[in-house]
Amino acid sequence: MEPFHAYIIAVDGYSSCGKSTFARLIARELNYVYIDSGAMYRAVALYCLENNLLVGGNPLIEKLREEMKNIIIRFRLNEHTGMQETWLNGKNVEEEIRGIEVSTVVSKISQIREVRSKMVSLQRKIGHNGGVVMDGRDIGTVVFPQAHLKIFMTAEADVRAGRRFKELLEKGMEVGLDEITANIRMRDHEDENRKESPLRKADDAVLLDNSHMTIDQQMEWFRKLWTQIIQRYEH
Ligand code: DC
Repeated sequence: MEPFHAYIIAVDGYSSCGKSTFARLIARELNYVYIDSGAMYRAVALYCLENNLLVGGNPLIEKLREEMKNIIIRFRLNEHTGMQETWLNGKNVEEEIRGIEVSTVVSKISQIREVRSKMVSLQRKIGHNGGVVMDGRDIGTVVFPQAHLKIFMTAEADVRAGRRFKELLEKGMEVGLDEITANIRMRDHEDENRKESPLRKADDAVLLDNSHMTIDQQMEWFRKLWTQIIQRYEH
């Protein structure tokens, strides 16, 4: 078994339940690389918006299939913030991919098989050496079914909407709480019911419902769990 700095940690779960904050903190604590797989699907969605590959919010699937070869997604470390940022075809799109426009169309884009297979192979390439925390919807079920630790996160929909609302307000984006709640419910439904890699908890994933937990409490929870994982693999 590899030494514990080479492990793969998969963090899956519902949208806006704090996966990225949690996964990023874990990565920092273990000195692992954090990879936000949702950012890749968001970058493809942005590409579709910018290149007229959507009609009435629906992707032109055939055209997008042809265009996939022209979509180059990379992560680059921002030396000032210490965070990985998403680049699409040579442009930093980290901010743009978080807006409501992208959020509204991204789940439709992420249902397309060719999009998924390209993103999954990129994710495997980035993570195969271990020392990564990757968050998403299918990391523990499809991308890395052999992950050493799988965490499945959830929180009540209203709690998630409230958190997202606050986050967007702080960024100066004007969006109503109702719109956000509707967007979250719509995404839950689409994530759970899509044909390609629907969102589901892997049988061997550990459940974390953080509806009523602070981030410090979540980290305490993680540290206890991690001690058990290390004991399981190293003793
Ligand atoms: O985590 P997020 O909200 O940034 O994800 C954006 C979209 O991408 C969301 O609709 C679910 C989808 N996604 C996915 O299908 N598979 C992943 N591994 C990550 C995200």
